[in-house]
Amino acid sequence: MEICAFFGILLSGIGCILLSVGQDEFHGEALRTLKYVVNQSDYTVETLRNVTEYLSLAKTINVAQIFLPSNVMDDIDKLNVDLSTAANTLNEKTSENSAKIKKVFNAVRSALITVAALMLLLSLIGLLLSIFGHQHAIHIFIVSGWLLVAITFILCGVFVILDNAVSDTCMAMGEWVDHPHAETALSNILPCVDQKTTNQTLIKSKQVITDIVNVVNQFIYSVADTNPSPDYQFYYNQSGPMMPALCYPYDSQLQDRQCGPQEVSVANASEVWQNYTCKVDASGLCRTAGRVTPYFYGQLASAVQEIYALEHYTPPLLSLQDCNFVRDTFQNITSNYCPPLEHYLKIVNAGLGLISSGVLLCLVLWILHANRPRREEEFVKLSLPIKCISGIQKKNVSEYSNSHVSTPNTSTEV
Ligand SMILES: *[C@@H]1O[C@H](CO)[C@@H](O)[C@H](O)[C@H]1NC(C)=O
Ligand SMILES: *[C@@H]1O[C@H](CO)[C@@H](O)[C@H](O)[C@H]1NC(C)=O
Ligand SMILES: *[C@@H]1O[C@H](CO)[C@@H](O)[C@H](O)[C@H]1NC(C)=O
Ligand SMILES: *[C@@H]1O[C@H](CO)[C@@H](O)[C@H](O)[C@H]1NC(C)=O
Ligand SMILES: *[C@@H]1O[C@H](CO)[C@@H](O)[C@H](O)[C@H]1NC(C)=O
Ligand SMILES: *[C@@H]1O[C@H](CO)[C@@H](O)[C@H](O)[C@H]1NC(C)=O
Ligand SMILES: *[C@@H]1O[C@H](CO)[C@@H](O)[C@H](O)[C@H]1NC(C)=O
Repeated sequence: MEICAFFGILLSGIGCILLSVGQDEFHGEALRTLKYVVNQSDYTVETLRNVTEYLSLAKTINVAQIFLPSNVMDDIDKLNVDLSTAANTLNEKTSENSAKIKKVFNAVRSALITVAALMLLLSLIGLLLSIFGHQHAIHIFIVSGWLLVAITFILCGVFVILDNAVSDTCMAMGEWVDHPHAETALSNILPCVDQKTTNQTLIKSKQVITDIVNVVNQFIYSVADTNPSPDYQFYYNQSGPMMPALCYPYDSQLQDRQCGPQEVSVANASEVWQNYTCKVDASGLCRTAGRVTPYFYGQLASAVQEIYALEHYTPPLLSLQDCNFVRDTFQNITSNYCPPLEHYLKIVNAGLGLISSGVLLCLVLWILHANRPRREEEFVKLSLPIKCISGIQKKNVSEYSNSHVSTPNTSTEV
C-alpha cells in the first residue's frame, strides 16, 4: 500500500518538476515572442511616424515662392493623414493586446504554480495522514483532492486548447508565408497590396523626388547662380563662385542614374551648400560673398532632407504595403518562436497529466485505506484475542495491513 502511495507521490513530484520547468520556459518564451512582435509593431509605428514627420516638413518648403506642384501637396496631405491614422491604430492595438496577453500569461502562470504547490502539499499531507490515520481528516482531504484533480484536469484542458491555438496560429502563419495571395486563414485579415500597386507607389515616390529636385535646381539656376540687378525681385546681392546644382537621382525613365561631375549628391548637398551661404545685414542683403542667404539655405537643406526621407522610407513603407515585412516577421516567428512554444506547452501538459494521475492514484489509495480499516477492525476483533486489540488500535491505520500479515505471529506469541 505505501509503495503505491509513494509511487503516486513520485508521479506527482515528477509532474510538479515538469510543470515548473515547462511553465517557466513557456512563460519566458511566450514573453520573448510577445516582445519580438511588439518590437516589430513599434518599428512599424516609428517608421510611419517618421515618414509623416518628413512629409509635413515638405509643406514648409517654399524656395523663393516656387512651391511644389499643388497635386504633389495634396497627395502628401492625404498620405500623411492615412499614415498617421495607421500608426496610431497600430500603436493602440499593440499596447492594448500585449497588456492583455501579458495579464493572461501571468494568470495562467499563477494558477499553475498554485496547483502544483497545492498538489504536492496535498499528496504529502495525505501520505502523513494515511500513516498516522486520522480518518475524518482523510475524508476532508479526499474531497479537496477530488476538487484539485478536477481543477487540474480543467487546466489540462485549457492547455490543450492553448496548445491547439498556438499550433493553429503557427500553421496559419506558415501557410500565409508560403501562399500570401491564396485564400488562407490569414489572407482575409491581412490585405496585401499586389506588386503592381506597390510599383505604382514607388514610381510616385520617385516622381515626387524628381519634382523636389526640379524646384531646388530651378531656384539655383534662376536665382542663386545669377547676378541680377538690384531691382530684380530676388536680388539679395548674390556674388561669388557658382553654386553646384542638385543631382537628379533618377533619369527620365525613373531608373537610377549617376550624378554628373558638376552636380552635388543628395547626401552631400547640405554640407557643400553651406560654403555658398553669405552673411546678411539687417535688410536681408548679403554682406559677404555667397550665393544664398541663410534663410534660402535652410529651405534648400530641408528640401534635400525631404528627398533623403523619401528615398530612405519608401522601401520600408512598400514592404509594409506588400506585406513583405509581415511575411518576414511571420517567417521568423514560425521558425524561431513556434517550435519552442509548442515544446514547452507539451511539457506543461505532461506535468499536469502526471500530477493529476499521481494525485488520483493517492486518492484511490486513501479511499481504499479509509474504507478498509473498518472491515479489518471487525476482522481483527473476531480473529484476535482481546488483549491484542488495544495495542493494535493505537497503531496507525496504514500499519493495519502489516499487522494483519503479522497477526499469526502476534497471536502465537500471545
Ligand atoms: C526591432 O525590430 C527592428 C526591425 O525588425 C530591428 O531592426 C531592431 O533591431 C529590433 N530591436 C530589438 C530591440 O529587437
Ligand atoms: C525615426 O526617426 C528618429 C529620429 O529622427 C530616428 O532615431 C529613428 O531611428 C527613426 N526610426 C526609424 C524606424 O527609421
Ligand atoms: C515592378 O518594378 C520592377 C523594377 O522596378 C520591375 O522589374 C517589375 O516588372 C515591376 N512589376 C510590375 C508588375 O510592374
Ligand atoms: C560626398 O562627399 C565626399 C567628400 O566630400 C565624397 O568622397 C563622396 O564621394 C561624395 N558623395 C557623393 C555621392 O557624391
Ligand atoms: C568648404 O570650404 C572650405 C574652405 O574653403 C573647404 O575646406 C571645405 O572642403 C569646403 N567644404 C565642402 C563640403 O566643400
Ligand atoms: C554685396 O556683397 C559684396 C561681397 O561680395 C560686398 O562687398 C558688398 O558690400 C555687398 N553690398 C551690399 C549692398 O551689401
Ligand atoms: C528573428 O528574430 C531573432 C530574435 O529576435 C532576431 O535576432 C533576428 O534578426 C530575426 N530575423 C529576422 C529575419 O527578422
